[in-house]
Amino acid sequence: MKSGFITLEGIDGCGKSSLTGELVKRLAAAGFSVELTLEPTRTWLGDAVRRSYTEEINPYTEAFLFLADRATHTDLIRKKMAEGKLVISDRYSDSTVAYQAALLQHKLGGDSRDYMKWLLEISQPVILKPDVTLLLDIDPEKSLARLGNRTELEKFENMENLRQVRQNYLDLAANSDVIHVIDASESKDVVLEAVIGVIGKNFDVKL
Ligand code: TYD
Repeated sequence: MKSGFITLEGIDGCGKSSLTGELVKRLAAAGFSVELTLEPTRTWLGDAVRRSYTEEINPYTEAFLFLADRATHTDLIRKKMAEGKLVISDRYSDSTVAYQAALLQHKLGGDSRDYMKWLLEISQPVILKPDVTLLLDIDPEKSLARLGNRTELEKFENMENLRQVRQNYLDLAANSDVIHVIDASESKDVVLEAVIGVIGKNFDVKL
């Protein structure tokens, strides 16, 4: 079976992570050797990234932490693909472009689009272009409601930021040949079928 690289993207509460279990099952049943991975990674680099969530740090420092984690993660993804795996990553490079551009704009002013352009450029040496990216698109009001009454929202999860993050994702999708926008306000089953449909078409397999 073919190797490949699929990424899942979307704002907090879009339902991405709860989709992965079923998705992996369906792909495995079709004969793919699936490797599920995620960012921030579960390594010391990912730990450093997660530590930054609770700190008041320079937004550039934060962007570079995500990129540092990604560079090593990309090596791992390449290795798994060389072993014939279909790698699925829950978040990847588009997260940094969408989230860090929003945060840089929020903290430093300026235009999110300029930050996006810069982030896209500096990301190039440390990323691999996915075969398919599924962008689970949803209004932040709905996604935050889904996250429920978690007492402490992480710093990326406030409404104003998430509106900008969503817009950044949609801008990325408008200029991409691999990003597919999926309506994530639908039920879990409908979203899963939409995702499966895109992947099946892309890899030319019946799932
Ligand atoms: P999330 O997928 O929720 O991971 P976890 O379950 O470990 O908390 O991601 C955590 C937050 O980090 C989320 O708000 C998105 C943000 N994020 C970025 O801002 N930039 C990035 O490059 C990545 C990968 C995540």
